[in-house]
Amino acid sequence: MGGRNPYFDELASVTTATRKFKVRFLPMNLIVEVDPDKLPFGDTGLPGSILDAALANGIEIDHACGGVCACSTCHCVIQKGGATLSEMSDGEEDQLYNAPGLTPDSRLSCQAVADGSADLVVFIPDWNRNATRENH
Ligand code: FES
Repeated sequence: MGGRNPYFDELASVTTATRKFKVRFLPMNLIVEVDPDKLPFGDTGLPGSILDAALANGIEIDHACGGVCACSTCHCVIQKGGATLSEMSDGEEDQLYNAPGLTPDSRLSCQAVADGSADLVVFIPDWNRNATRENH
C-alpha cells in the first residue's frame, strides 16, 4: 500500500479535500487541479498527497522509497497553503531531518495531504526533480 511505512505504528492525522483546489509547482510554474472525486490518482504516496497529485500530472518528484515515508527524496517546500496540509507525523519529521536544503516550510510530498481549503504553491528543489522523466 503506497503512503504508509509498515514499520511505523502511528498514523498521521489526514483529512482529504472535499472540494477541488489547485497546486502551482515551482520552479516549472505548472498548475494542476486536484479533484477529490478522482482520488487516489495512483498508488505512490498517501492518496491526495502532493506527490500523488504531481505524478498524476507528469511532474516527476523523486520518491526513492515508493512514497512510504522511508526516505527524504520527495522533499518539497510549501510556499503557500501550508496550513491546509495534514499534520506532520513523527515518522515524516524523522525522515525530513535528512533532507538537504531543509527549511521551516519543508514537507515530504508523499505524506503531505491538503484539505483543499486553499490553493498551494510548492517548490521542488532541483535535486529532487527527475528531469529525465519530465522530458518524456
Ligand atoms: S518518497 Fe520516500 S519519503 Fe516520500
